[in-house]
Amino acid sequence: MPILTEGVRHLPGLLDRAAQEALAEDIRAVVRDAPLFVPAMPRTGKEMSVRMTNCGPLGWVTDKERGYRYQDTHPVTGKPWPPIPARLMSLWDDVADYAAPPEACLVNFYAETARMGLHQDRDEEEFSAPVVSVSLGDACLFRVGGPKRGDRTVSVKLQSGDVVVLGGAGRLAFHGVDRIYPGTSTLFNSSGLNAPGRINLTLRRVTMPV
Ligand code: SIN
Ligand code: FE2
Repeated sequence: MPILTEGVRHLPGLLDRAAQEALAEDIRAVVRDAPLFVPAMPRTGKEMSVRMTNCGPLGWVTDKERGYRYQDTHPVTGKPWPPIPARLMSLWDDVADYAAPPEACLVNFYAETARMGLHQDRDEEEFSAPVVSVSLGDACLFRVGGPKRGDRTVSVKLQSGDVVVLGGAGRLAFHGVDRIYPGTSTLFNSSGLNAPGRINLTLRRVTMPV
């Protein structure tokens, strides 16, 4: 179980092909209920290159006017987010080492040219829970460093079925996606998502458990 940087664990191939296919179906159902939306940066309104949706009691959203936040409804449909699929809840139980369930699952869809700049996940109240990240579809070049922006970073290729856990000293590690490797996975060919690309799922605990 390679440690990428302090507190950041890479679990290559944790989900086998059958589990990836089942999870892709679950996410397809989530997207049917809660369509992908276009996130925009706070203040500038610049559109991000990923498309997003969420499942769980809370979802992470961002727009020009109100910036980064969690909310309990979809920003376009106004509906509550669909529940987190059972197989993601049990993945959390397997790897999170945290007593309470996740509250948010952010779904990021990366088309061929999408990327994500180096950032911290820090819009949660609770940092003692890890962030659990699942990769599906095309491989990507993932970069992760330490808790300061200038910290040394390491790069690793994440493949479909890989899981990354950012916990403990790694909970606030800077991380991002430098590029997608289009056409490196066949996972979505038969899924009905019918587009190349990559999906990343991040499970987070947002509030302190009472
Ligand atoms: C994220 O940081 O929200 C996504 C990371 C990834 O796509 O692997
Ligand atoms: Fe992140």
